[in-house]
Amino acid sequence: MQVEPSSSDSPALEGPNIPVHVAFIMDGNGRWAQKQGLPRIVGHEYGVQCIQNVLETLEPMGVKFVTLYAFSTENWGRPQEEVDGIMDVFSEAVANQTAALHEKNVRIVHVGKTENLHPDLRNAVVEAQRLTADNTGITMNVAFDYGGRAEILEAVRRIIKDGVDPDTIDEELFSRYLFTSHCPDPDLIIRTGGEQRISNFLLWQSAYSELYHTPTLWPDLDATELKQVVETFGSRRRRYGALNPEDQYPEDRSSEPQT
Ligand code: IPE
Ligand code: IPE
Ligand code: MG
Repeated sequence: MQVEPSSSDSPALEGPNIPVHVAFIMDGNGRWAQKQGLPRIVGHEYGVQCIQNVLETLEPMGVKFVTLYAFSTENWGRPQEEVDGIMDVFSEAVANQTAALHEKNVRIVHVGKTENLHPDLRNAVVEAQRLTADNTGITMNVAFDYGGRAEILEAVRRIIKDGVDPDTIDEELFSRYLFTSHCPDPDLIIRTGGEQRISNFLLWQSAYSELYHTPTLWPDLDATELKQVVETFGSRRRRYGALNPEDQYPEDRSSEPQT
């Protein structure tokens, strides 16, 4: 779904060290349940309950956008029973939690395709997005049926259909054709569950994101760990391929490109 940029859509940092956009690969729900001898679906139920806590921790810190990778284009390949269970858990969660999030001025945006979602989830997501469209608090992007490659292909198709002159296609124009056109690229991507891979998440947008992997399973991620991760982001030195003054000897600085 495409939405318009919000008035808070600024890449400027709130504080010197606070990420504007934090994205999560919410992994580990199944293992969390299995460790306790429970069906995997119980892990997904607990997983969605953690979302409120994440928003309540990050919003006061000054974070403006949170993206939650909840269901990938590859997750359709799971056993039908699990897929159906996840769709039910998500549709109930979106339907039940939207009013409270709206009260808190949260803007909900779906990133991904809606066509293949189970109808209850599709309706709940569309309604949540409509209801909260003008909210000015934190933006919560929910990635259901999201895949980075599918998103890039869809952008290419739409650019061609729009008859865009190839010579005018630059990074800024291309970004406007992505599901995330309303927000800046993620400053920080946090993956729970111990895996050290991106699993088709925000492939274009993660070009210069800081990455953080934790063995903590998603339902166990608490405010203390989350605050620590966001605070340690402040000590990362982002160079975007260039050099910061502190990376250079004083005598080298005289050869800096002149602007
Ligand atoms: C992540 O948890 C949520 C989804 C992919 C829907 P998993 O279900 O992948 O949990 P693990 O990785 O098997 O523990
Ligand atoms: C990534 O988790 C997708 C989501 C969290 C929605 P997966 O469990 O699907 O990732 P892989 O299969 O371990 O790469
Ligand atoms: Mg997993």
